[in-house]
Amino acid sequence: MTAAQAGCLTAALEIGYHLLDRGAPALTAVEQAIRVLEQSGLFNAGRGSHVQLDGVRRMDASIMEGQDLQAGAVASIEGIVHPISAARLVMEQTTHVLLVGKPGSAFARHCGLERQPRRPSGHAAGKAAMTRVWSPKTLELYRTMMSSGPALRKRAGKETVGAVALDQTGTIAAGASTGGIDLMLPGRVGDTPIIGCGVYADNESGAVSMTGLGEGIIRIAVAKEICDRLAQGERPVSAATQVLKKLVRRIKGAAGSLVLAPDGRFAITHVTPRMAAGWWNGKGRPTVRDSFQ
Ligand code: GLY
Repeated sequence: MTAAQAGCLTAALEIGYHLLDRGAPALTAVEQAIRVLEQSGLFNAGRGSHVQLDGVRRMDASIMEGQDLQAGAVASIEGIVHPISAARLVMEQTTHVLLVGKPGSAFARHCGLERQPRRPSGHAAGKAAMTRVWSPKTLELYRTMMSSGPALRKRAGKETVGAVALDQTGTIAAGASTGGIDLMLPGRVGDTPIIGCGVYADNESGAVSMTGLGEGIIRIAVAKEICDRLAQGERPVSAATQVLKKLVRRIKGAAGSLVLAPDGRFAITHVTPRMAAGWWNGKGRPTVRDSFQ
């Protein structure tokens, strides 16, 4: 984690906590904390989102609150700085849970959300981008990119962002926002906008926000499985550890989780080498680290 990323995480924690301290809903603290990370360009979300193989940034986000189990999400949206706010608008302004693609992007623009270019200038993929996505060379290019993918992703040093929060009324919320995997096939969607996979929140169990390789997180439905364990009385650290171990054992997945119980116990757990994350309860300074092993 760079010093700039650590500073940005600290700022996000401070903004989220101060909102909660003034009586704001957990949902607002989660949204505003994630907006700080999306705005920074330092993480794989919002301005810092990875691009797909055709050089376009397509982003996913979701948000959920634990009192009435309301949720909203967007997948594969383009040209918007704050997908997390688009997700909240889907939740609050529509009767739907998930909007996708160009119509989802149009919804976000219609709601007046700040815009950014679909195709960041100067990105290597942007320069090499295909003018037609499915040319005969598409899969060849994709395989070349993916074979060096882990190194590229490591070099990028930017991951999905997320937050969980507990407010003064005892309601919890979870959210996540991502640009997906660098140089993925156009149209690929990961776990982040899928309720029960990338996020879940229920006042009767807990709030979970995931980062990591979405293909694995989806197949285990990680967020819901962690919440189910919390509902059975398991501690956050144990619930997260058991489910992440299952992810590794069953499908060689890689992920990290933020887990918060309704009584305030929490865990930051990962089976990746590092996970930049932090927490704050208003005492002292926020804790920010890139490993919680
Ligand atoms: N966890 C983010 C993604 O796989 O898209």
